[in-house]
Amino acid sequence: VTTAETILSAPEKASVLAEALPYIRRFAGKVVVVKYGGNAMEDESLARIFAEDIVLMRAVGMCPVVVHGGGPQIGDLMSRLGKKPEFRRGLRVTDADTLDIARMVLVGRINRDIVSAINVHGPLAVGLSGEDAQLISAVARSPELGFVGDVDAVNAGILERLLAQDLVPVLATIGADTTGQSYNINADTVAGAVAEALGAERLVYLTNIEGLLADVRDPASRISAIAAADLEAMVTDGAVSEGMIPKLASCVHALRNGVRRAHILDGRVPHVLLLEFFTDEGVGTMVEP
Ligand SMILES: Nc1ncnc2c1ncn2[C@@H]1O[C@H](COP(=O)(O)OP(=O)(O)OP(=O)(O)O)[C@@H](O)[C@H]1O
Ligand SMILES: [Mg+2]
Repeated sequence: VTTAETILSAPEKASVLAEALPYIRRFAGKVVVVKYGGNAMEDESLARIFAEDIVLMRAVGMCPVVVHGGGPQIGDLMSRLGKKPEFRRGLRVTDADTLDIARMVLVGRINRDIVSAINVHGPLAVGLSGEDAQLISAVARSPELGFVGDVDAVNAGILERLLAQDLVPVLATIGADTTGQSYNINADTVAGAVAEALGAERLVYLTNIEGLLADVRDPASRISAIAAADLEAMVTDGAVSEGMIPKLASCVHALRNGVRRAHILDGRVPHVLLLEFFTDEGVGTMVEP
């Protein structure tokens, strides 16, 4: 049973709300970039709760920006079309067909689903692809990965204008280069770059695991707090693999470029965002510069 599911008495509920006040004050007007992992969004009720949390954050004056992934969903459609997903160091090898599939799934489906779930609560979310208004200028990452892009520049102005209108940008991580060629960009990489460009107060990765684990096979080995330099060492030592590699790399980069703090949180825990932002509960892994 998670904390969020525990039944509270009325006085306990009141004290939880009272506990939230200093946090609400601290984060008013602050930009929080939330990377919503494809693995964390597969459960329908969790997806609804995620949308509620984002709406609540916005309602108390925070400026959330959602950047979403979609690894498993892209993999599913690829399999249905008879293509075999292939990864190198956590990045999807992307030929022209795979790019098409990734774009359809990310922009056409997942982005729409998140926008709709948020907008059940009011006219708040605006979905964007990185191709919109040159939001994400991309460059090819390496020839062996095909159409996998890296972020060359972020047009933060468009996001700032949306935030100034009290809207919630929801970003699909397809970018384009100067010739109009599209690229599939790892969502963690985009989240880090967007957080940097906005000078975000917090960068949060919602994923499908307890947090950063010292030993990936042992869920009890969660690291509750770590410095950016030590993350780098974990990558070099081979303590992390697969999707955790781009996550940590983007996190280190963002913290070295002005983002104040990052969190790797378990997106399978209901209301994990509220637990992190509005209670004294220490969840997931906190990373500081
Ligand atoms: N040391 C580690 N601690 C925690 N997770 C690790 C570690 N090493 C590797 N991993 C893997 O990284 C995975 C998380 O990254 P993954 O890319 O799969 O998910 P995501 O980024 O949340 O989703 P998406 O890629 O769809 O946006 C974990 O499920 C785990 O298997
Ligand atoms: Mg990933």
